[in-house]
Amino acid sequence: MPNRDLNLRQLRREYADTPLRRRDLADDPMIQLRCWLEDARAAGVRDPSAMTLATVDRFGQPQARVVLLKELDEGLVFYSHGLSDKGRALALHPKASLLFFWDALDRQIRIEGSVERLDAAHTCDYFHQRPRDSQLAALISRQSEPVANRNALEAAWQAADRAHPDTVPCPRDWHGWRLHPARFEFWQGRPSRLHDRFRYQRRDGRWCIERLAP
Ligand SMILES: Cc1cc2nc3c(=O)[nH]c(=O)nc-3n(C[C@H](O)[C@H](O)[C@H](O)COP(=O)(O)O)c2cc1C
Repeated sequence: MPNRDLNLRQLRREYADTPLRRRDLADDPMIQLRCWLEDARAAGVRDPSAMTLATVDRFGQPQARVVLLKELDEGLVFYSHGLSDKGRALALHPKASLLFFWDALDRQIRIEGSVERLDAAHTCDYFHQRPRDSQLAALISRQSEPVANRNALEAAWQAADRAHPDTVPCPRDWHGWRLHPARFEFWQGRPSRLHDRFRYQRRDGRWCIERLAP
């Protein structure tokens, strides 16, 4: 079917004229990230903490998917299944890239770094703060494996619900990971595609900031 209505070549818009200046940036990119996350929340973005996580699999194939940022401490923490595609990729190559895009603000943040797996106590602490429905879903899901059909999934969920009337056990293969950033880029869309881009890189124990060509 040809592109009848979806004229991709004509699909474009101008970005607002909201400058990002060097003097607007915090010296510490984690503070800048917090500030932009807060702006996204205040702007009514529905999932401001949704970020694209890119990993590389054993064949060198990059793979991207969305996960939710759950903690912001010395790094960025997310949770998932250890036997999923991303879990296996991170076990092999503990490096990743994260990307936030907030359409309402014409902003993007790219983050790259190394990833460590959290200890079981930390992961289970968060697991038990999740709603019961989500705990059960994590318990029965063999994430990224084929499933026969939707009914099989729902039946497994209901069986787990009956089997664990009180506390749902934290699955052994469900984990938290923390990405330790080595590089950030803050992008602010500007008119005429003359966007503002600033990269933070760690050099000799401190963050260096450079403006990049759009
Ligand atoms: C808004 C949104 C939030 C998501 N959050 C998570 C998450 O926090 N953890 C997770 O494992 N999957 C999350 N997913 C699902 C993943 O994108 C993905 O489908 C799943 O983790 C399997 O990825 P994989 O097969 O590449 O490992 C989310 C998806 C969306 C669209």
